[in-house]
Amino acid sequence: MKIKKTRVLSGVRASHSSLHLGNYLGAIRGMVELQNKVGHETFYMVADLHGITTSFNPKMLHKNRLEAAKDLLAAGIDPEKSAVFLQADVPEHVELAYLLSSVSQVPELMRMPSKKDEYRKYADDGQLKGVSFALLGYPVLMAADILLYKAEKVPIGEDQLPHLEFTRKVARRLNVKYGLRLPVPEAVLSNELRVPSISEKGKKMSKSTPESAIFLNDSYEEIKKKIFGMSTDAGKGFRAPRKHDAVYALFTLVELVIGSDRRRELEKQYLGSGDGVRYSEVKLELVDAIYNLLKPIQTRRRDLDNNPAKLRGILDEGAMKASKVASITLDEIKGAMGLS
Ligand code: TRP
Repeated sequence: MKIKKTRVLSGVRASHSSLHLGNYLGAIRGMVELQNKVGHETFYMVADLHGITTSFNPKMLHKNRLEAAKDLLAAGIDPEKSAVFLQADVPEHVELAYLLSSVSQVPELMRMPSKKDEYRKYADDGQLKGVSFALLGYPVLMAADILLYKAEKVPIGEDQLPHLEFTRKVARRLNVKYGLRLPVPEAVLSNELRVPSISEKGKKMSKSTPESAIFLNDSYEEIKKKIFGMSTDAGKGFRAPRKHDAVYALFTLVELVIGSDRRRELEKQYLGSGDGVRYSEVKLELVDAIYNLLKPIQTRRRDLDNNPAKLRGILDEGAMKASKVASITLDEIKGAMGLS
């Protein structure tokens, strides 16, 4: 008997900036885990078409879509297990987005909480001048990305929840209007928000504050310098460190990189009657753990940087795998809408 697999789809933007540990532990590690889970079929794409919804430079876009693909592959997305592709290489995305635009209402798109600020930024005297048709349709294209694969699970960050909610609405509308049976997708939330800044209390790791972050391509020495610069305290206390305490970030990184057991052990030491936590040892342990986590990522990244033909091959194959599934769904929806 053939068991139906759960489809997973996620996309990453093509804007290039070096990824940091927060991006990895938050979003990408979850994508890698889903890829390795039995009974799951994973589709991971670079959302390059979303990159033209606001002003862009074609040369940069061309470079960034490949950089983003390399980031995914370097981080452990395995082309043997997942279809890894560039959205623009699979023309079904654009075609379905147009069909879906017919069940999308302009006011609901204008109200999209995730985009409101962006609209305001581009809006000239409240007239939304400078808001392109493509930007308004951003969630419509994203719905097409997801529905083309009949994805049931969508790994995303919290900021993308309104878009997923919109996708769910669109799926239900198509099902009711045209008698389809598209799955209504669910979010798999990443814990990106929980990865703490290493330099600022209570904040999260962010690329806009470079000293807050460990980047995926940091060397051993750089990691060591950053981790040893993290704040500590006396090593003991009456309660376990909480969000605004000096050592919260250190404890949390230990949990995220080494494991929750190790964090519990440290908390026991922290609360116990002994000498307390010896931070220099913990820090060294953490540096080694982070380095061991990043080393294979850096090696794969270098390999891809030196081998553009290999990258092209992976992406072509990914697009083929994706298109095979996407074209079936597209035909089904076109048929139901009387268009084939
Ligand atoms: N909009 C997403 C982001 O900004 C990227 C994206 C595009 C996506 N299409 C998708 C995510 C489909 C999940 C599913 O991060």
